[in-house]
Amino acid sequence: MVQRVVRQSSERTPIDACHVSDTKQQPELQLAATGLSFVGGLICARFHHTATRIMPLTRREFLIDSASTTLFASSLTTRSDGSAFPFRHGVASGDPLTDRVILWTRLTLPEGTLSASCQWYVATDPTMQNVVQYGQLFTSASRDFTVKVDVEGLQPGTTYYYVFEAAGQRSDIGRTRTLPEGSVDRLRIAYTSCSNITRGHFNVYKELAMRADLDVVLHLGDYIYEYADIDHCLRTGRPNAPLHETQTLEDYRLRHACYKGDKDLQEVHRQHPFMVIWDDHEVANNAWKGGADNHEEGEGSWKERLSGAVRAYLEWMPIREPSQPERGIYRSFRFGDLVDLTMLDTRLAGRHAQAETLEERNQASRSILGSQQEEWLKQCFHASAQSSVTWNLTGQQVMVAQLGTNDMPFNYDQWDGYPAARHRLFESVREAGLQNWVVLTGDIHSSWALELHDNPFADNTGKPLGVELVTPAVTSPGIDNQTRADIAAGSLEAVLPHLNFVDFYYRGYVLLDITHERLQAEWWIVDNIDSHRYAPGCLRKLSVESGTHQLKPAAETVEKLPSAPLAPAFSDDLAILRRWRRDGFGTVDGMLASSSAN
Ligand SMILES: [Fe+2]
Repeated sequence: MVQRVVRQSSERTPIDACHVSDTKQQPELQLAATGLSFVGGLICARFHHTATRIMPLTRREFLIDSASTTLFASSLTTRSDGSAFPFRHGVASGDPLTDRVILWTRLTLPEGTLSASCQWYVATDPTMQNVVQYGQLFTSASRDFTVKVDVEGLQPGTTYYYVFEAAGQRSDIGRTRTLPEGSVDRLRIAYTSCSNITRGHFNVYKELAMRADLDVVLHLGDYIYEYADIDHCLRTGRPNAPLHETQTLEDYRLRHACYKGDKDLQEVHRQHPFMVIWDDHEVANNAWKGGADNHEEGEGSWKERLSGAVRAYLEWMPIREPSQPERGIYRSFRFGDLVDLTMLDTRLAGRHAQAETLEERNQASRSILGSQQEEWLKQCFHASAQSSVTWNLTGQQVMVAQLGTNDMPFNYDQWDGYPAARHRLFESVREAGLQNWVVLTGDIHSSWALELHDNPFADNTGKPLGVELVTPAVTSPGIDNQTRADIAAGSLEAVLPHLNFVDFYYRGYVLLDITHERLQAEWWIVDNIDSHRYAPGCLRKLSVESGTHQLKPAAETVEKLPSAPLAPAFSDDLAILRRWRRDGFGTVDGMLASSSAN
């Protein structure tokens, strides 16, 4: 029997009591700080808010802001010759298809600049000798000087390298990869979520950046957090800008810029294409289509806040921009005959508000995807089944599996709060006849592997409908005391028959190694995020044989695969740079002439 988790409000913890700023306490972190507590075998979660107060900067806050700005600025804005560097937010790529990929950067230019041109080059080699595509575009203050190009005409399943040029400077070299087509034997996909910059170092991104054997990295949401969170800035020495909670377009732009100033984040974007979806914190905690728990009275119009957050997200993320983003950013990707991937939007596309009562929660009309997305997903599943693609992956935000019974649901923000919608989802899978359905989930700052059933608590559940594999966070907290974390895990494993394993302690990512015969999932973790001194390791490895939907221990971690080289770090010794300097190859024609001469 699963114990009821109690939702409470308006409690203050010792952590809250020492807040001096306008910080709202983070409901999620209650999982770590106080959230899962054990009272006579009951698992209890506490959720609460503190009031918002807009206050002028204290001297301490001013010093933090100045120090963090200086720290980042000094390392990122100048090159060895002392010249201003416009690419201080790095480069990124995303949403690869078989013939195209999004390339992204952002220009930091002298104040007063209204618009600027930017050149881009794509090559097949890491020293940019063999340029195959190039172009120029303009950006302006109207899109916060972000630069995004959808490079077409590329070959499938191919690694490319790219650079940008602007204001007489060249960016670092980025690396990306198109999706394969036709017969595909093997894929490596990594995914993670919940990267709160104030909570610690992005060592997980660092680990991902060093792996050359990934086809793509998925980020399943909470890429930024909206909180002010000055206390954690102080504790970890990590920057956050602006210092107040993000509410306007300018706030969200500044917050994205702050995150993109992190070197580990820059490095993982530089080395791998991303496929991203937002969760709630890209706007505000526990968001739904018409509001959020963390959008409170006195914070203005939800519509305006949402519009600013969405616009900044589309500007700053390497995502192919939908024509109507307010209808959601759900989309699909095909990796040849091996994998179909659907990326869902369970937050802003069509989610009804989190229920207040059990009766409301059980209403048949309630949706977490919205009817349009539900229909789209159904069609995706059917198309996939008809095309005989082996694996169906669904990347999304909140846990699908039941963590409580129908009488005692666990968390109304997860699919547990939308049982009718979950039933329709399962029906779609059943109707399409999917034999290898794997749900990839973020949000909960912990690692889980579960089998999916209509009712996992029934005596005879039959063959699972699929499996759910949940990634730990990049930095956001689970349970920071390992003993308590282990007790929590043991208790859940005892009461959830469909749970294979759970861990609340470590941060990390999930690696999927996929062949037609089996999918192997490995939970790779880091043991520390308080500094850059950490040890990585594999926490758990599980395998699902094709057609079984059953999780079994894997014998070994998968070996590193031969892969195209990572993009080199910036170097004045690159041959292409020497030629640019010697011959003045600042132009596309000059560069191509140089390339063809070799
Ligand atoms: Fe999160």
